[in-house]
Amino acid sequence: MNSIIETMRECAIQISHLLKDTSTQYLESSNTSGDMQLEVDVLADQLIEKSLLELRCVKGVCSEEKPVAVYNDYPDAPYIVAYDPLDGSSLVDSDLTIGTIFGIYDNELKAPALIASGYILYGPRLEMVVAQTQVLHYRYNGTLWRNLGALQLNHKGKINAPGGTQKHWEHRHKTLIDSFFAEGYRLRYSGGMVPDLHQILIKSGGLFSYPATSDAPKGKLRKLFEVFPLAFIYEKAGGEAIDGKKRILELDIDGIHDTTPCFLGSPSEIERVRKVYE
Ligand code: F6P
Ligand code: MN
Repeated sequence: MNSIIETMRECAIQISHLLKDTSTQYLESSNTSGDMQLEVDVLADQLIEKSLLELRCVKGVCSEEKPVAVYNDYPDAPYIVAYDPLDGSSLVDSDLTIGTIFGIYDNELKAPALIASGYILYGPRLEMVVAQTQVLHYRYNGTLWRNLGALQLNHKGKINAPGGTQKHWEHRHKTLIDSFFAEGYRLRYSGGMVPDLHQILIKSGGLFSYPATSDAPKGKLRKLFEVFPLAFIYEKAGGEAIDGKKRILELDIDGIHDTTPCFLGSPSEIERVRKVYE
């Protein structure tokens, strides 16, 4: 498994160069979820797929940018890696931070099989967060990756990152989000899942929500590539991740591009979500 993490580190360096050198024009194509693709989305996807499939421990890979999983020639290999090559790539033209998300699944693409996950941040600095037993934070200094230590959430935080369009929210969701602001929580929302969740981790707590909405009744964010890996990271950092009622890491999947409403945060905020959604 360490070879997968090492490979993702190498991909991070190459993708950070691609982001500087590649055109950020939209292509004619869109991915399985209907998102328009940038040239750099496609290049990052190809790079990660090729690099991971060279590893003897990788049975297959599954990308947000591809309709089906791709398997290699090692059927007895233990791991399948699901990844979102460039999360939040619609923010590239605004020059905001975007990311790569990956989850390492033991033999099967389902939540209980997730054994490690991570994300890369392409921001003013190149950073990576990897969760196995702990959640470790790394920064690339141009030569090597320095371990900055473990990340841990407080019981309660101060940040509120509410996803989706308000006019499509349920009334109870609007009441919940407003109640956090009324208490003094700060709005911190860029529209990139990776930096928005990273900020909550770095500032030690708060709530990220992407609820069921009238235009996306099953939520927007994808289970295998986005929500499961981040839920794993949040749980390992002492936080929680639910779909409103159930623990995210106990949800089934119907298809690889399946989505779910999600609430990730510190225990105190998640308890309040549970009360509203139960
Ligand atoms: O991958 C989807 C994504 O770009 C996430 O990175 C982000 O959290 C979300 O969409 C933002 O969606 P919205 O603009 O609807 O809040
Ligand atoms: Mn994404």
